[in-house]
Amino acid sequence: MPLYSEDIIEEVRSRNDIVDVISQYVRLTRKGSTYFGLCPFHNEKTGSFSVSPNKQMYYCFGCHAGGNVFTFLMQYENFTFGEALEALAERAGVALPKQEYSATQRMEADKRARLLEINKEAAKYFFMLLRSERGKRAMEYFKKRELSDETIKKFGLGYSDQYSDDLYRYLRNKGYEDEILKESGLVTIDERRGGHDKFWNRAMFPIMDVHNKVIGFGGRVMGDGEPKYLNSPETKIFDKSRNLYGLNFARTTKKPQLLLCEGYMDVIALHQAGFDNAVASLGTALTSGHANLLKRYTKDVYLTYDSDGAGIKAALRAIPILKEVGITTKVINMKPYKDPDEFIKALGAEAYQERIDQAENSFLFEVRILEQEYDMHDPESKTSFYNEVAKKLCGFSEKLARDNYIEAVAAKYMIAAEDLRRLVNQYGLKEGLAGAASANSDRQQSGIRGNEKNKGRKKEDGMKQSQKLLLTWLIENTGLFQKIKKYITPADFTEEIYHRVAELLFAQYEESGTVNPAKIVSMFENEEEQSEIAGLFNATIPAAMTKEDRDKALKETIVRIKENSINHRSKELGPTDMEGLMKLVQDKKALEELERMHISM
Ligand code: UTP
Ligand code: MN
Repeated sequence: MPLYSEDIIEEVRSRNDIVDVISQYVRLTRKGSTYFGLCPFHNEKTGSFSVSPNKQMYYCFGCHAGGNVFTFLMQYENFTFGEALEALAERAGVALPKQEYSATQRMEADKRARLLEINKEAAKYFFMLLRSERGKRAMEYFKKRELSDETIKKFGLGYSDQYSDDLYRYLRNKGYEDEILKESGLVTIDERRGGHDKFWNRAMFPIMDVHNKVIGFGGRVMGDGEPKYLNSPETKIFDKSRNLYGLNFARTTKKPQLLLCEGYMDVIALHQAGFDNAVASLGTALTSGHANLLKRYTKDVYLTYDSDGAGIKAALRAIPILKEVGITTKVINMKPYKDPDEFIKALGAEAYQERIDQAENSFLFEVRILEQEYDMHDPESKTSFYNEVAKKLCGFSEKLARDNYIEAVAAKYMIAAEDLRRLVNQYGLKEGLAGAASANSDRQQSGIRGNEKNKGRKKEDGMKQSQKLLLTWLIENTGLFQKIKKYITPADFTEEIYHRVAELLFAQYEESGTVNPAKIVSMFENEEEQSEIAGLFNATIPAAMTKEDRDKALKETIVRIKENSINHRSKELGPTDMEGLMKLVQDKKALEELERMHISM
């Protein structure tokens, strides 16, 4: 993205009041100095989503989404930081400084813009034709497939006429030259015969990118005929392996997972039935480009591919691709129907939801399909099957996951878990899988070790909590900084991101005597970091505290943070680090002094 200065970023941020912006998306009600509403990022019935005009930040106490006005657009619209900045600059009428582009870059950008225009014009044309006398048959076709007027409109469905060059002539009349039309993929230009449309007499499905821009089309024959679907070729604006049909709608779903299907009609039927989380790859097999795109929106994908052999094969190919990018996959069983479209037509949305709830873990799906290649009544074949499964189980490098899967497979295929584990360990030894061979001895010790680990983690979480609490107090009580700066420095915040935030916060107080937490948020570009920082400024402070209790809690918190920081540093102190040692001695003295002091908010 283009780089903008901190000042410009802050100007755009401060001219977009967060309550105004979020109110356009979420209904907010005021309670005291804070606004509350239903969180747009997770499903809930009571509002745990808060927007603070003072902090100019939002935070959900349920799902911990949070940040400033930029973060909100990044999370809600799935914008990049640059896109959020541009949108808010436009909203507030702030002119962003022009970026310098080279002549070639400008020409490329121009060409892309023209190609998008052409696709949009074509979509409008097909849309109009569908509603004209000439498009009657196509409209009947969509109706026969039980699409509502609303659905037809939402997906911008259309019709391409029987003439084989009417779109070409229409676009020429709009002023587009042959050269750019050729690049749009919508027409072919023949030296002798002139321009010809790629799509004619087909039911048209515009393909949109996540920003709702038409980038290509799929066209279906109405009835039988080959090919069933014709698709736009790849162009400068249409990269099939980086776009998913329906993602422009599914990206704002509140459902926890995305449904991945095979066809245009499946996506449309699912959305019409209320599954606004359905997407499909575009007439191509799933690629790692798709997987990375999906990963931006969810960590859980449910495959709802055709239930025939081709669909099963496609699922088996897709699972490892999704796993590679860290997506957890489940497989929906649609039997006895072919695809989601047919399933929903026959049994309805509720039955489909049941199938979602019963979706099968992708590993168990793979094993079940594998089993079909073996004759489980034949001891020889059955043994081979178990050996294959054991090999597959070695793929889990984490012991806990491996154990859980061993147990699940053992239970399902009626074999003793211990026998299967032994088999897995044999393969593990052969393939050098670390840990698998010692799985048993690990198990005997895990009781004690597990407990120690838990204790360690709890203590660490408590320390994080203290540091969070102090950061929140520091921004909510602007007078506190002067009282405690003698005792606490940013270096005492031992968590990496807390430390960076404390440095920025302390600098703001030193420079201006006041604090601007929302500005600190925009200094981090990545959405996850921004949300984490919102969490640091929104620690839960017990409400019903007396002033005495609060002062006591404050002092205890400061003492704990200081102690932790001293311990932390003395562990890391090098034997010749005299300066560090002096600082430690000083800090220990300060801590003693602090313990005798009375600090009050
Ligand atoms: P299907 O054959 O499963 O079709 O192809 P479908 O989506 O169920 O469509 P209907 O219900 O028969 O109308 C799945 C997807 O594969 C691509 C399309 O993207 C289609 O949606 N495909 C299929 C093609 O690109 N060309 C074809 O000829 C067939
Ligand atoms: Mn179908």
